[in-house]
Amino acid sequence: MDNDDFIEKNLDLSKKIDVDLVKKFVVFNGISSTNSKAKELAQDGEAEGTVVIAQIQKSGRGRFDRVWESPEGGLYLSLILKPDVSPDKTSLLPLVAALAVSTTIRDYGLSASIKWPNDVRVNKKKVAGILLESDAYKNQLRYVILGIGVNLNIDMNLFSKELKDTVTSLSHELHATVDYHKFLENLLSTIDTYYTMFLNEEFDCIISDWKALSDTLNRHVKIVTSSDEIIGKTYDIDSSGFLLVLTDSGEYKKIMSGDCLHFDEL
Ligand code: BTN
Repeated sequence: MDNDDFIEKNLDLSKKIDVDLVKKFVVFNGISSTNSKAKELAQDGEAEGTVVIAQIQKSGRGRFDRVWESPEGGLYLSLILKPDVSPDKTSLLPLVAALAVSTTIRDYGLSASIKWPNDVRVNKKKVAGILLESDAYKNQLRYVILGIGVNLNIDMNLFSKELKDTVTSLSHELHATVDYHKFLENLLSTIDTYYTMFLNEEFDCIISDWKALSDTLNRHVKIVTSSDEIIGKTYDIDSSGFLLVLTDSGEYKKIMSGDCLHFDEL
């Protein structure tokens, strides 16, 4: 356990949450990162369905090693998954997670949408982020950590000035506090539904539901990858969740990962 991680004994979420996939909660008041802790546990053999959850994170991590600001009021969780699939199939899991998060948020009457691959936004502002980290050996998947951060009841003043214009929280959009436990239960139950779809190889369903909630398709975009910058029009995603783009110079590209900027929002 890191020095700054400590368990809040009073929180016993397992009593209140009844979702088949979820077998155990490991609850922290403050932690460095729930993903790091979940990885540690998965490496030590912790089973699928363990959820590491914290009220604040001191070193929350985002995609591309960015900082994920994790003040009080947010929901920070990491779920250990051990799907019996080949590692290449996991490229759909970020979409599965984004679908579950945005569907849950939509139940609160907000029109959450997904910016490829898995930023969940409300009114074009980021309200949740997803970080998947996996470990495989000799083409055998050992575990996947599904990390989700939702800006649930975060006072906008708690975000840094760099983020204030681009993020929002559910409570800010709804002008009301969201019940943490109810939201968590809804979210985990929706993850269970889409994860079961994934295990049943209902990939077409996942893709079509994702398309219905995404606002990235058929737009002029700039995609920044680790090695490239691609400008063009998105026209589809394929069965692995990769983004298909017709570049301004007329090339067809398939993009596996990157940051996507919608030009008409710049
Ligand atoms: C992103 O949009 O860049 C992904 C953000 C993921 C943040 C969550 S919060 C819970 C889990 N623990 C982490 O350190 N990161 C993920």
